[in-house]
Amino acid sequence: MKTIVITSQKGGSGKTTLAAHLAVEAERGGAGDVWLVDTDKQATLSQWHSRREAETPGKLDVPFALLPKGLQTLAAQNAAYCFIDTPPTISEQSKAVIELADLVLIPARASPADLWAIADTVEIVKQAGKPFLFVVTQAKPQATITAQAVAALSQHGRVAERFIADRVTYAAAMTGGRTAQEIAQKGLAADEIHALWLVIISCFNEKIVSRGVANG
Ligand SMILES: Nc1ncnc2c1ncn2[C@@H]1O[C@H](COP(=O)(O)OP(=O)(O)O)[C@@H](O)[C@H]1O
Ligand SMILES: [Mg+2]
Repeated sequence: MKTIVITSQKGGSGKTTLAAHLAVEAERGGAGDVWLVDTDKQATLSQWHSRREAETPGKLDVPFALLPKGLQTLAAQNAAYCFIDTPPTISEQSKAVIELADLVLIPARASPADLWAIADTVEIVKQAGKPFLFVVTQAKPQATITAQAVAALSQHGRVAERFIADRVTYAAAMTGGRTAQEIAQKGLAADEIHALWLVIISCFNEKIVSRGVANG
């Protein structure tokens, strides 16, 4: 099983949206069972999950101290992926979660506030020696600031070649416990989530976000 931790110090950068959409996408890829863990006290991912009619992806509910054991149990049951959503704060708990990751995704909007906050997140991920990948979210594709953000993020590590654009459908779908690709299978959001998932899989297959590469 691959554990993918989604973290960033900024609230609103798109962690929870990515966790939900990527988990559904991973499952649609047919790799096997996919699980979610919500470690944020705000519990947005849990709220979304409780509104879902579909039975999958599953959500693992364990006290934080038992999370490593819970992941071991999922792995023993041959689960394929587990996505862990995190709060926007750096604490001992967030460091402990990062220790559990096979890959860390760091979402960032193309905004000065997100970019200025990135260094702290990168530092704890690098300290843990974990492979990581930036994901540009809520992007305005033609905007100069998107290109500037990619350039700034690239100084720290690899940026996923596919962005997640700013689309109302992401929020609208989640309100009803679904994801954008479940609402419109051939929509633009479905396309970009699928493309991003392929980039993430390639990280595992090609091992191209090795620590050395990611650290530049
Ligand atoms: N790609 C997107 N396009 C439009 N709105 C988005 C997108 N991603 C997230 N949002 C919205 O932005 C807000 C913050 O997203 P969320 O995933 O909850 O961020 P975080 O978990 O990092 O705080 C939510 O209202 C969400 O619906
Ligand atoms: Mg969140």
